[in-house]
Amino acid sequence: MAEALRIGLAGLGNVGAGVFKLLEEHSELMASRCGRSLEVVAVSARDRSRDRGFDFTNARWCDDPRSLAEDGNIDVVVELIGGSDGVALQLVEDALASGKNVVTANKAMLALHGTRLASKAEESGVGLAYEAAVAGGIPIVKSLREGLAGNRIERVYGILNGTCNYILTAMEESGREFDDVLSEAQSLGYAEADPSFDIDGIDAAHKLALLTSLAFGRFVEFDTVYTEGIRQVGAIDIDFARELGFRIKLLAIARATANGIEQRVHPCLISTDTPIAHVQGVFNAVVAEGDYVDRTMYEGRGAGEGPTASAVVADLVDLARGDLLPTFGVPVQKLESTPSATMEEHESAYYVRLMVVDKPGVMADVAAILRDENVSLESVLQRGRDPGEVVPVILTTHVTVEAGMRRALQQIGELELVVESPLMIRVEDL
Ligand code: HSE
Repeated sequence: MAEALRIGLAGLGNVGAGVFKLLEEHSELMASRCGRSLEVVAVSARDRSRDRGFDFTNARWCDDPRSLAEDGNIDVVVELIGGSDGVALQLVEDALASGKNVVTANKAMLALHGTRLASKAEESGVGLAYEAAVAGGIPIVKSLREGLAGNRIERVYGILNGTCNYILTAMEESGREFDDVLSEAQSLGYAEADPSFDIDGIDAAHKLALLTSLAFGRFVEFDTVYTEGIRQVGAIDIDFARELGFRIKLLAIARATANGIEQRVHPCLISTDTPIAHVQGVFNAVVAEGDYVDRTMYEGRGAGEGPTASAVVADLVDLARGDLLPTFGVPVQKLESTPSATMEEHESAYYVRLMVVDKPGVMADVAAILRDENVSLESVLQRGRDPGEVVPVILTTHVTVEAGMRRALQQIGELELVVESPLMIRVEDL
Protein backbone atom coordinates (compact mmCIF):
# COMPACT_ATOMS: atom_id res chain seq x y z
CA MET A 1 0.00 0.00 0.00
CA ALA A 2 1.20 3.53 -0.76
CA GLU A 3 2.29 5.82 2.05
CA ALA A 4 -0.41 7.30 4.27
CA LEU A 5 -1.88 10.71 3.55
CA ARG A 6 -0.69 12.71 6.55
CA ILE A 7 -3.25 15.15 7.86
CA GLY A 8 -2.80 18.17 10.14
CA LEU A 9 -6.14 19.14 11.67
CA ALA A 10 -6.65 22.70 12.94
CA GLY A 11 -9.82 23.15 15.02
CA LEU A 12 -11.29 20.44 17.23
CA GLY A 13 -14.85 21.69 17.61
CA ASN A 14 -17.82 19.62 16.47
CA VAL A 15 -16.65 19.25 12.90
CA GLY A 16 -13.02 18.51 13.81
CA ALA A 17 -14.23 15.89 16.26
CA GLY A 18 -16.46 14.42 13.56
CA VAL A 19 -13.58 14.17 11.08
CA PHE A 20 -11.39 12.53 13.70
CA LYS A 21 -14.06 10.00 14.62
CA LEU A 22 -15.01 9.22 11.02
CA LEU A 23 -11.40 8.58 10.03
CA GLU A 24 -10.93 6.25 12.99
CA GLU A 25 -14.18 4.37 12.57
CA HIS A 26 -13.86 4.01 8.78
CA SER A 27 -10.09 3.65 8.60
CA GLU A 28 -10.16 0.34 6.68
CA LEU A 29 -12.89 1.51 4.33
CA MET A 30 -10.93 4.69 3.54
CA ALA A 31 -7.72 2.73 3.01
CA SER A 32 -9.38 0.37 0.56
CA ARG A 33 -11.07 3.24 -1.30
CA CYS A 34 -7.90 5.33 -1.53
CA GLY A 35 -5.24 2.65 -1.74
CA ARG A 36 -3.57 4.31 1.25
CA SER A 37 -4.58 5.20 4.75
CA LEU A 38 -5.70 8.62 5.95
CA GLU A 39 -3.94 9.52 9.20
CA VAL A 40 -4.36 12.53 11.42
CA VAL A 41 -0.74 13.05 12.49
CA ALA A 42 -1.07 16.47 14.15
CA VAL A 43 -3.86 18.52 15.71
CA SER A 44 -4.24 22.04 16.95
CA ALA A 45 -6.99 23.69 18.95
CA ARG A 46 -7.38 26.45 21.48
CA ASP A 47 -7.67 24.36 24.61
CA ARG A 48 -5.71 21.13 24.92
CA SER A 49 -7.21 20.11 28.26
CA ARG A 50 -10.88 20.17 27.23
CA ASP A 51 -12.56 16.78 27.30
CA ARG A 52 -13.72 16.22 23.72
CA GLY A 53 -14.94 12.69 24.25
CA PHE A 54 -12.32 11.05 22.01
CA ASP A 55 -8.64 10.26 22.20
CA PHE A 56 -6.38 12.34 19.99
CA THR A 57 -3.19 11.65 21.94
CA ASN A 58 -1.69 9.64 19.06
CA ALA A 59 -1.57 12.86 17.05
CA ARG A 60 1.09 15.48 17.75
CA TRP A 61 -0.36 18.51 19.57
CA CYS A 62 0.48 21.98 18.23
CA ASP A 63 -0.37 25.04 20.29
CA ASP A 64 -0.02 27.28 17.25
CA PRO A 65 -2.06 26.07 14.25
CA ARG A 66 0.27 27.93 11.90
CA SER A 67 3.03 25.46 12.75
CA LEU A 68 1.05 22.85 10.78
CA ALA A 69 1.83 24.82 7.63
CA GLU A 70 5.56 24.46 8.18
CA ASP A 71 5.55 20.83 9.25
CA GLY A 72 7.39 18.71 6.66
CA ASN A 73 5.55 15.59 7.83
CA ILE A 74 2.12 16.85 6.82
CA ASP A 75 0.60 16.50 3.31
CA VAL A 76 -2.69 18.26 3.90
CA VAL A 77 -3.88 20.89 6.34
CA VAL A 78 -7.54 20.73 7.31
CA GLU A 79 -8.67 24.18 8.43
CA LEU A 80 -11.71 24.09 10.71
CA ILE A 81 -11.02 27.21 12.75
CA GLY A 82 -13.45 29.51 10.94
CA GLY A 83 -13.58 33.27 10.45
CA SER A 84 -12.91 35.06 7.20
CA ASP A 85 -9.53 36.44 8.25
CA GLY A 86 -7.14 36.08 11.17
CA VAL A 87 -5.52 32.78 12.05
CA ALA A 88 -7.56 30.70 9.61
CA LEU A 89 -6.56 32.81 6.62
CA GLN A 90 -2.96 32.96 7.70
CA LEU A 91 -2.80 29.20 8.16
CA VAL A 92 -4.31 28.56 4.73
CA GLU A 93 -2.04 31.06 3.00
CA ASP A 94 1.05 29.63 4.68
CA ALA A 95 0.05 26.04 3.99
CA LEU A 96 -0.56 26.75 0.28
CA ALA A 97 2.68 28.71 0.02
CA SER A 98 4.62 25.82 1.51
CA GLY A 99 3.12 23.36 -0.97
CA LYS A 100 0.52 21.71 1.22
CA ASN A 101 -2.96 20.79 0.15
CA VAL A 102 -5.73 22.51 2.08
CA VAL A 103 -9.20 21.29 2.95
CA THR A 104 -11.48 23.84 4.57
CA ALA A 105 -15.10 24.29 5.62
CA ASN A 106 -14.63 28.05 5.80
CA LYS A 107 -17.18 29.70 3.49
CA ALA A 108 -16.60 33.21 4.84
CA MET A 109 -12.88 33.04 4.08
CA LEU A 110 -13.42 31.63 0.59
CA ALA A 111 -16.21 34.08 -0.23
CA LEU A 112 -13.87 36.96 0.56
CA HIS A 113 -10.50 35.58 -0.55
CA GLY A 114 -11.38 32.57 -2.71
CA THR A 115 -9.97 33.70 -6.04
CA ARG A 116 -6.63 34.76 -4.53
CA LEU A 117 -6.33 31.53 -2.52
CA ALA A 118 -7.18 29.41 -5.58
CA SER A 119 -4.42 31.23 -7.42
CA LYS A 120 -1.94 30.45 -4.66
CA ALA A 121 -2.96 26.79 -4.71
CA GLU A 122 -2.38 26.64 -8.46
CA GLU A 123 1.01 28.32 -8.19
CA SER A 124 2.05 25.68 -5.66
CA GLY A 125 0.47 22.80 -7.60
CA VAL A 126 -1.71 21.75 -4.66
CA GLY A 127 -5.43 21.40 -3.99
CA LEU A 128 -7.74 23.80 -2.20
CA ALA A 129 -10.90 21.83 -1.44
CA TYR A 130 -14.06 23.04 0.29
CA GLU A 131 -16.95 20.61 -0.13
CA ALA A 132 -17.95 21.23 3.50
CA ALA A 133 -18.20 24.99 2.98
CA VAL A 134 -21.43 24.85 0.97
CA ALA A 135 -24.55 23.03 2.19
CA GLY A 136 -22.66 20.80 4.65
CA GLY A 137 -23.11 17.15 3.78
CA ILE A 138 -24.61 17.71 0.32
CA PRO A 139 -21.89 17.04 -2.29
CA ILE A 140 -22.81 20.08 -4.37
CA VAL A 141 -19.28 21.23 -5.15
CA LYS A 142 -18.53 17.83 -6.64
CA SER A 143 -21.85 17.78 -8.45
CA LEU A 144 -21.26 21.12 -10.14
CA ARG A 145 -17.57 20.63 -10.81
CA GLU A 146 -17.66 16.99 -11.89
CA GLY A 147 -21.10 15.43 -12.28
CA LEU A 148 -22.52 18.37 -14.27
CA ALA A 149 -19.25 19.38 -15.96
CA GLY A 150 -20.72 18.74 -19.41
CA ASN A 151 -23.42 21.36 -18.96
CA ARG A 152 -23.70 25.07 -19.25
CA ILE A 153 -25.39 25.94 -15.95
CA GLU A 154 -28.34 28.27 -16.35
CA ARG A 155 -29.43 28.69 -12.77
CA VAL A 156 -28.45 27.38 -9.38
CA TYR A 157 -30.46 28.04 -6.24
CA GLY A 158 -31.06 26.58 -2.88
CA ILE A 159 -31.89 26.62 0.77
CA LEU A 160 -28.38 27.14 2.08
CA ASN A 161 -29.04 28.08 5.69
CA GLY A 162 -30.53 25.51 8.02
CA THR A 163 -31.15 27.99 10.84
CA CYS A 164 -33.42 30.13 8.64
CA ASN A 165 -35.19 27.11 7.23
CA TYR A 166 -35.75 25.77 10.74
CA ILE A 167 -37.19 29.11 11.91
CA LEU A 168 -39.49 29.52 8.90
CA THR A 169 -40.69 25.93 9.24
CA ALA A 170 -41.35 26.32 12.96
CA MET A 171 -43.20 29.61 12.35
CA GLU A 172 -45.38 27.88 9.79
CA GLU A 173 -46.07 24.85 11.94
CA SER A 174 -46.78 26.71 15.17
CA GLY A 175 -48.15 30.06 13.94
CA ARG A 176 -45.65 31.81 16.25
CA GLU A 177 -43.73 34.99 15.46
CA PHE A 178 -40.10 35.18 14.35
CA ASP A 179 -38.66 36.51 17.66
CA ASP A 180 -40.37 33.81 19.67
CA VAL A 181 -39.14 30.99 17.45
CA LEU A 182 -35.63 32.45 17.30
CA SER A 183 -35.39 32.62 21.12
CA GLU A 184 -36.51 29.02 21.38
CA ALA A 185 -34.02 27.95 18.69
CA GLN A 186 -31.26 29.72 20.63
CA SER A 187 -32.20 28.07 23.91
CA LEU A 188 -32.19 24.65 22.20
CA GLY A 189 -28.77 25.39 20.68
CA TYR A 190 -30.07 25.36 17.07
CA ALA A 191 -29.27 29.04 16.56
CA GLU A 192 -26.14 30.94 17.56
CA ALA A 193 -26.18 33.43 20.46
CA ASP A 194 -25.39 36.05 17.80
CA PRO A 195 -27.63 34.78 15.01
CA SER A 196 -27.11 37.68 12.59
CA PHE A 197 -24.88 35.82 10.09
CA ASP A 198 -27.62 33.25 9.68
CA ILE A 199 -30.83 35.23 9.90
CA ASP A 200 -29.59 38.24 7.93
CA GLY A 201 -28.66 35.99 5.01
CA ILE A 202 -24.90 36.52 5.18
CA ASP A 203 -24.01 32.86 5.67
CA ALA A 204 -26.16 31.90 2.67
CA ALA A 205 -24.58 34.73 0.65
CA HIS A 206 -21.07 33.41 1.40
CA LYS A 207 -22.11 29.99 0.14
CA LEU A 208 -23.87 31.42 -2.90
CA ALA A 209 -20.74 33.34 -3.94
CA LEU A 210 -18.89 30.00 -4.12
CA LEU A 211 -21.67 28.25 -6.03
CA THR A 212 -21.82 31.12 -8.53
CA SER A 213 -18.14 30.89 -9.22
CA LEU A 214 -18.36 27.14 -9.74
CA ALA A 215 -21.51 27.28 -11.84
CA PHE A 216 -20.59 30.20 -14.08
CA GLY A 217 -16.77 30.08 -14.11
CA ARG A 218 -16.57 33.51 -12.59
CA PHE A 219 -14.32 35.20 -10.01
CA VAL A 220 -15.71 34.81 -6.50
CA GLU A 221 -17.58 38.04 -5.89
CA PHE A 222 -19.26 38.26 -2.51
CA ASP A 223 -19.67 42.05 -2.61
CA THR A 224 -22.24 41.91 -5.38
CA VAL A 225 -24.52 39.34 -3.72
CA TYR A 226 -27.79 41.12 -2.90
CA THR A 227 -28.66 40.01 0.64
CA GLU A 228 -31.84 40.24 2.71
CA GLY A 229 -32.60 38.10 5.75
CA ILE A 230 -35.80 36.82 7.32
CA ARG A 231 -36.28 39.15 10.32
CA GLN A 232 -39.15 41.01 8.68
CA VAL A 233 -41.19 37.93 7.76
CA GLY A 234 -44.26 37.72 10.01
CA ALA A 235 -46.49 34.80 10.94
CA ILE A 236 -49.21 36.65 9.04
CA ASP A 237 -47.13 36.52 5.81
CA ILE A 238 -46.61 32.79 6.16
CA ASP A 239 -50.34 32.43 6.64
CA PHE A 240 -51.31 34.57 3.65
CA ALA A 241 -48.67 32.84 1.53
CA ARG A 242 -50.25 29.50 2.37
CA GLU A 243 -53.67 30.85 1.40
CA LEU A 244 -52.22 31.86 -1.97
CA GLY A 245 -50.58 28.43 -2.55
CA PHE A 246 -47.03 29.37 -1.51
CA ARG A 247 -44.44 28.76 1.21
CA ILE A 248 -41.88 31.32 2.30
CA LYS A 249 -38.26 30.17 2.08
CA LEU A 250 -34.94 31.99 2.27
CA LEU A 251 -33.42 31.15 -1.11
CA ALA A 252 -29.97 31.87 -2.49
CA ILE A 253 -30.20 32.22 -6.27
CA ALA A 254 -27.59 32.69 -9.01
CA ARG A 255 -28.76 33.07 -12.57
CA ALA A 256 -27.39 34.18 -15.91
CA THR A 257 -29.52 37.05 -17.26
CA ALA A 258 -29.26 39.36 -20.26
CA ASN A 259 -27.89 42.01 -17.86
CA GLY A 260 -25.25 39.79 -16.29
CA ILE A 261 -25.08 37.35 -13.43
CA GLU A 262 -27.66 37.79 -10.71
CA GLN A 263 -26.66 36.71 -7.20
CA ARG A 264 -29.30 37.22 -4.55
CA VAL A 265 -30.34 35.91 -1.14
CA HIS A 266 -33.78 36.88 0.16
CA PRO A 267 -37.06 35.41 1.36
CA CYS A 268 -39.18 34.14 -1.53
CA LEU A 269 -42.72 32.97 -2.01
CA ILE A 270 -42.43 29.63 -3.80
CA SER A 271 -45.27 27.49 -5.01
CA THR A 272 -46.02 24.50 -2.79
CA ASP A 273 -45.97 22.45 -6.02
CA THR A 274 -42.18 22.75 -6.25
CA PRO A 275 -40.04 20.02 -4.62
CA ILE A 276 -37.84 22.54 -2.79
CA ALA A 277 -40.89 23.96 -1.00
CA HIS A 278 -41.04 20.65 0.87
CA VAL A 279 -37.53 20.88 2.25
CA GLN A 280 -38.31 21.67 5.87
CA GLY A 281 -36.56 22.15 9.18
CA VAL A 282 -32.77 22.28 9.30
CA PHE A 283 -32.39 20.61 5.92
CA ASN A 284 -30.64 22.28 3.00
CA ALA A 285 -31.28 21.73 -0.69
CA VAL A 286 -29.70 22.86 -3.93
CA VAL A 287 -31.19 22.84 -7.41
CA ALA A 288 -28.83 23.10 -10.39
CA GLU A 289 -30.25 23.51 -13.89
CA GLY A 290 -28.01 22.65 -16.82
CA ASP A 291 -28.67 22.93 -20.55
CA TYR A 292 -28.32 19.18 -21.18
CA VAL A 293 -29.24 17.63 -17.86
CA ASP A 294 -32.24 19.91 -17.12
CA ARG A 295 -33.14 20.20 -13.43
CA THR A 296 -31.26 18.31 -10.72
CA MET A 297 -31.93 18.59 -7.00
CA TYR A 298 -29.86 17.64 -3.96
CA GLU A 299 -31.12 17.56 -0.40
CA GLY A 300 -29.46 16.82 2.91
CA ARG A 301 -28.17 18.14 6.17
CA GLY A 302 -26.37 21.43 5.79
CA ALA A 303 -24.56 21.43 9.11
CA GLY A 304 -23.64 19.29 12.10
CA GLU A 305 -20.79 17.05 13.06
CA GLY A 306 -21.52 14.00 10.91
CA PRO A 307 -22.64 15.66 7.64
CA THR A 308 -19.85 18.23 7.66
CA ALA A 309 -17.24 15.60 8.51
CA SER A 310 -18.58 13.52 5.60
CA ALA A 311 -17.86 16.42 3.23
CA VAL A 312 -14.39 17.12 4.65
CA VAL A 313 -13.44 13.46 4.28
CA ALA A 314 -14.71 13.38 0.68
CA ASP A 315 -12.11 16.06 -0.09
CA LEU A 316 -9.43 14.09 1.76
CA VAL A 317 -10.29 11.00 -0.26
CA ASP A 318 -9.85 12.98 -3.51
CA LEU A 319 -6.44 14.19 -2.38
CA ALA A 320 -5.39 10.72 -1.23
CA ARG A 321 -6.30 9.38 -4.67
CA GLY A 322 -4.31 12.15 -6.33
CA ASP A 323 -7.36 13.85 -7.85
CA LEU A 324 -6.43 17.52 -8.12
CA LEU A 325 -9.23 19.59 -9.59
CA PRO A 326 -9.30 23.34 -10.24
CA THR A 327 -10.78 25.05 -7.19
CA PHE A 328 -13.63 26.74 -9.05
CA GLY A 329 -13.95 24.28 -11.93
CA VAL A 330 -11.56 26.05 -14.31
CA PRO A 331 -8.02 27.34 -13.79
CA VAL A 332 -8.01 30.80 -12.18
CA GLN A 333 -6.74 32.40 -15.40
CA LYS A 334 -9.88 31.18 -17.14
CA LEU A 335 -12.29 32.59 -14.55
CA GLU A 336 -14.24 35.47 -16.04
CA SER A 337 -15.34 38.80 -14.64
CA THR A 338 -18.85 38.63 -16.11
CA PRO A 339 -20.88 41.74 -15.14
CA SER A 340 -23.32 41.54 -12.24
CA ALA A 341 -26.99 42.31 -12.84
CA THR A 342 -28.46 44.83 -10.39
CA MET A 343 -31.62 44.31 -8.36
CA GLU A 344 -33.19 47.39 -9.98
CA GLU A 345 -33.12 45.46 -13.26
CA HIS A 346 -34.54 42.32 -11.66
CA GLU A 347 -37.98 41.22 -12.87
CA SER A 348 -40.36 39.30 -10.68
CA ALA A 349 -43.88 39.08 -9.36
CA TYR A 350 -44.21 40.50 -5.85
CA TYR A 351 -46.13 39.89 -2.65
CA VAL A 352 -46.73 43.10 -0.69
CA ARG A 353 -48.14 43.46 2.81
CA LEU A 354 -49.56 46.85 3.69
CA MET A 355 -50.80 47.84 7.13
CA VAL A 356 -53.52 50.37 6.39
CA VAL A 357 -56.28 52.20 8.23
CA ASP A 358 -59.52 50.58 7.13
CA LYS A 359 -61.20 53.59 5.43
CA PRO A 360 -62.81 54.01 2.01
CA GLY A 361 -60.38 55.36 -0.59
CA VAL A 362 -57.09 54.03 0.69
CA MET A 363 -56.90 51.27 -1.91
CA ALA A 364 -57.77 53.74 -4.67
CA ASP A 365 -54.65 55.75 -3.75
CA VAL A 366 -52.50 52.59 -3.64
CA ALA A 367 -53.86 51.41 -7.00
CA ALA A 368 -53.19 54.79 -8.61
CA ILE A 369 -49.53 54.72 -7.54
CA LEU A 370 -49.11 51.19 -8.86
CA ARG A 371 -50.77 52.18 -12.15
CA ASP A 372 -48.42 55.15 -12.54
CA GLU A 373 -45.41 52.86 -12.05
CA ASN A 374 -46.83 50.39 -14.55
CA VAL A 375 -47.29 47.67 -11.92
CA SER A 376 -50.14 45.31 -12.69
CA LEU A 377 -52.01 43.77 -9.75
CA GLU A 378 -52.84 40.10 -9.71
CA SER A 379 -54.77 39.94 -6.42
CA VAL A 380 -55.81 41.98 -3.40
CA LEU A 381 -56.68 40.29 -0.10
CA GLN A 382 -58.15 41.79 3.02
CA ARG A 383 -59.44 39.51 5.73
CA GLY A 384 -62.39 40.85 7.64
CA ARG A 385 -63.30 44.48 8.14
CA ASP A 386 -62.47 46.85 10.98
CA PRO A 387 -63.50 50.43 10.12
CA GLY A 388 -61.02 53.02 11.40
CA GLU A 389 -58.57 50.33 12.66
CA VAL A 390 -55.32 49.10 11.13
CA VAL A 391 -55.73 45.99 8.99
CA PRO A 392 -53.34 44.06 6.75
CA VAL A 393 -53.93 44.19 3.02
CA ILE A 394 -52.05 41.77 0.82
CA LEU A 395 -51.29 42.55 -2.82
CA THR A 396 -49.71 40.31 -5.39
CA THR A 397 -48.48 41.69 -8.68
CA HIS A 398 -47.77 40.35 -12.12
CA VAL A 399 -44.13 40.25 -13.23
CA THR A 400 -42.68 43.74 -13.18
CA VAL A 401 -39.31 45.51 -13.05
CA GLU A 402 -38.06 45.94 -9.50
CA ALA A 403 -37.04 49.58 -9.90
CA GLY A 404 -40.68 50.56 -10.57
CA MET A 405 -41.89 48.37 -7.73
CA ARG A 406 -39.50 50.04 -5.29
CA ARG A 407 -40.55 53.52 -6.38
CA ALA A 408 -44.20 52.57 -5.97
CA LEU A 409 -43.66 51.15 -2.48
CA GLN A 410 -41.75 54.25 -1.43
CA GLN A 411 -44.75 56.40 -2.39
CA ILE A 412 -47.28 53.99 -0.89
CA GLY A 413 -45.33 54.03 2.40
CA GLU A 414 -45.74 57.82 2.47
CA LEU A 415 -49.57 57.72 2.27
CA GLU A 416 -51.24 58.96 5.43
CA LEU A 417 -53.39 55.87 5.91
CA VAL A 418 -50.50 53.42 5.41
CA VAL A 419 -49.07 53.06 8.90
CA GLU A 420 -45.98 50.87 8.37
CA SER A 421 -43.38 50.57 5.62
CA PRO A 422 -44.75 48.10 3.10
CA LEU A 423 -43.21 44.64 3.23
CA MET A 424 -42.23 43.25 -0.18
CA ILE A 425 -41.37 39.59 -0.80
CA ARG A 426 -40.42 38.35 -4.27
CA VAL A 427 -42.48 35.56 -5.79
CA GLU A 428 -39.96 33.20 -7.34
CA ASP A 429 -40.82 31.30 -10.49
CA LEU A 430 -39.02 27.96 -10.09
N1 HSE B 1 -25.10 28.17 10.38
C1 HSE B 1 -25.30 27.45 9.17
C2 HSE B 1 -26.77 27.08 9.03
C3 HSE B 1 -24.49 26.21 9.04
O1 HSE B 1 -27.58 27.40 9.89
O2 HSE B 1 -27.09 26.47 8.03
C4 HSE B 1 -23.04 26.48 8.77
O3 HSE B 1 -22.89 27.23 7.63
